[in-house]
Amino acid sequence: MSLDTTAVKELVGQHAVDELVRSGMKVGLGTGSTAVWAVRRLGRLLQEGSLRDILAVATSSQTEMECQKLGIPLRNMNDPEIDGRIDVVIDGADEVDPQLNLTKGGGGALLREKVVAYAAGRVGIITDPSKIADRLGLNFPVPVEVVPMARLPVTRSLEAIGGKPEVRMAQRKMGAVITDNGNILLDVTFPEPFDPPLMERRINEIPGVVENGLFCGIEPVVYVGKESGEVETRTAR
Ligand code: A5P
Repeated sequence: MSLDTTAVKELVGQHAVDELVRSGMKVGLGTGSTAVWAVRRLGRLLQEGSLRDILAVATSSQTEMECQKLGIPLRNMNDPEIDGRIDVVIDGADEVDPQLNLTKGGGGALLREKVVAYAAGRVGIITDPSKIADRLGLNFPVPVEVVPMARLPVTRSLEAIGGKPEVRMAQRKMGAVITDNGNILLDVTFPEPFDPPLMERRINEIPGVVENGLFCGIEPVVYVGKESGEVETRTAR
């Protein structure tokens, strides 16, 4: 058996839901072309009745729309039933290093994804072998969400810590991508190796930065879907 890219994403998305989600849970739902398969699996299991009493928190307008289409009950992090904490989140990633530090935000949803991941009891990351990297920030940029008036000050500060930032430009609209939170994104490559947990903190110390796409120290369980139909599980412990 040799699965194509979409089938691998479907496989790993379904696998994570089957492994991590149980009836009665508060579930964070990630964003992107892999996470959408977890959303669809959850929708199917709810429709079939195999799962019950799920409350979901979506990490983007894309995921929110998918949940609405599938009838998945949505709440936000501030609703009393959620009360700022969720049981589990399932999300994709752009890069995963050997310590299971992540780069996320290729879909521009990093801020909400990080709020939800850091408020989750368990984080499941669904990937394929193309996401596994020796180190972060070289082949896939680290996205940084920035308030629009701080674009150039933040750019200069990121350059001073070794980054090469570029404004993410919109497609089929002139100008910059505007996030779900009304901010812009700087995509930052790092030609030299860096310490991901330290860099995550340093970027967030720059005034005007709202959040960055390095996710370190969340101890995720990482599922790697394979063309063979197998799913490898990686944990830090
Ligand atoms: C969205 O902002 C991202 O963090 C995604 O989770 C990440 O880009 C992975 O997306 P794909 O599953 O589409 O590759």
